[in-house]
Amino acid sequence: MSWHPHLWHPTTQVATSPVPLQVARARGCVLELQDGRQLIDAISSWWVTLHGHAEPSIAAAIGRQALQLEQVIFANFSHQPAEQLATRLAALSGLERLFFSDNGSTAVEVALKIAWQWWRNQGSDRRQLIAFEGAYHGDTFGAMAVGDRSVFSAPFHDLLFDVARISWPHTHWGDATVEEREAHALQQLEQAFAVPTAAVILEPLIQGAAGMHMVRPSFLRAVEERAQAHGALLIADEVMTGFGRTGALFGCQRAGLKPDLMALSKGLTGGFLPMGVTMASERLYRGFISETPEQTFFHGHSFTANPLGCAAALASLDLLQHDPVRYQQFNTRHIPLLEELAQQPLVKRIRCQGTVAAFELDAGSTSYLNPIGKQLQRHCLDHGVYLRPLGNVVYLLPPLSISDTQLEQCYAAIRSGVEALSP
Ligand SMILES: Cc1ncc(COP(=O)(O)O)c(C=O)c1O
Repeated sequence: MSWHPHLWHPTTQVATSPVPLQVARARGCVLELQDGRQLIDAISSWWVTLHGHAEPSIAAAIGRQALQLEQVIFANFSHQPAEQLATRLAALSGLERLFFSDNGSTAVEVALKIAWQWWRNQGSDRRQLIAFEGAYHGDTFGAMAVGDRSVFSAPFHDLLFDVARISWPHTHWGDATVEEREAHALQQLEQAFAVPTAAVILEPLIQGAAGMHMVRPSFLRAVEERAQAHGALLIADEVMTGFGRTGALFGCQRAGLKPDLMALSKGLTGGFLPMGVTMASERLYRGFISETPEQTFFHGHSFTANPLGCAAALASLDLLQHDPVRYQQFNTRHIPLLEELAQQPLVKRIRCQGTVAAFELDAGSTSYLNPIGKQLQRHCLDHGVYLRPLGNVVYLLPPLSISDTQLEQCYAAIRSGVEALSP
C-alpha cells in the first residue's frame, strides 16, 4: 500500500502518517475496507454521517431528485426542494431566512458577512467581533480569523483580522472550578463590550475541534444576555452541534438561546452531500432590502441550493423528526459506559452532552499534536473501531443508528487500549 501519486489528503502530514485505508463501501455504522476488514465509524466520518452510511431513504431521495432536477442557477430561479427546506428549517430553528452555501466554513463566512454588512447598511460602524478561546469555525480566512489561533492557522496569522477573545469555561464531571472560570469569562466579556461590537460568535454547548469542550447552558445564556444588552448580534455556529448532536435538534434550543444567525452544515444532508446554510432573522434580512444597490448581499456560490443536497436534507429531517428519541436520549447510552471507563487512572475530565462523549488521557500536553491519541487510535483500529482523537482528547460521536452492541464494542476497544497505555 502506498500514497496515491495524484491525491492530496486534508490535514495530513504525509511524512509521518500511515497510508490511508481503502474503503470499498459503508452501511449503517460500518465501513468495509477493500481488504474485507470492517470498522465501526465511531466519529460519524468527521461528524457528518448523522443517521448511518448509505441510509436508504436518503439515497432514494437523492436518486429521485437527480432524475428530476440536478442543479440550476439559484439567482433568477427557485425550486421546490429549496423552498421546502427553507420553510422547514425556519420553523425548526426559529430563524426565518435561509441562505445557502457549500459547507461549514462558508456557512460561517456568510454569517460573519451578513452581520458585518447589516451594521453597515444601518449606517453603523461597529467593528469589533467577539469570539472564544479554543473556537474552531472552519478553514477559510474569515472562519480562521474568528477561530482561535492554532497549528491549523499558524502559517496565515499575519493575514487574519483581530477579534476580542474571551476564555471558554469548559467543564467536565466533578469540576470544582467552573463557576469561578465562568465569572472570569463574563468579566472579560463585559470589558470587551466597551468597544462597539458587531457580533459575538460561539459554538453552542460544545466546541468541537478544540477537544469537545463543553460549557454549561447557564453560561451561554449569560453571554447572550450581555450581547443583547450591548446590542451585539449573536452568531451560533451549529455546524457540529446541529441536528440532534447535543440531545436537542439544535444546541441553541438545548441551551435556551435565541441567536440572530445560525450556521449549519455537516448533518444537514444526513452527511450525504456537501451543503451549508446560514439561518438569519427576518430583522437582518430586512436590513438588506433597499433601492441602493450597495446594500445588496453580494455573495453566492455556484452550487447554491443544489437540489440534490436539498432533497437529502429533507429526507434527513424526515428521519430526525420521525424518531426524535434517538437523539434526545442518546446520552443515557453513553453514561454507564463512561462511568465504567472512569475507573481507569489515565482517564480524566469526562464529559457528555447528547450524542457526544469525551474524556482526556492524562498524558502531559493537551496539544492537538500529543501522540497518545494516535497510539489509542491504532489500538482501536486493530479492534475494529475507527476513532480520531484530538491530541489527548478521545471522543465518540457515532451515527444515531449505532446499536448497543456496536457502542459497547467501541467502549471495549477504548478500555483495552487505555489499559495497554497505562504505565
Ligand atoms: C463548529 C464548526 N464550524 C465550522 C466547521 C467547518 O466546517 P467545514 O469543514 O464543513 O468547512 C467545523 C468543522 O469541523 C466545525 O466543527
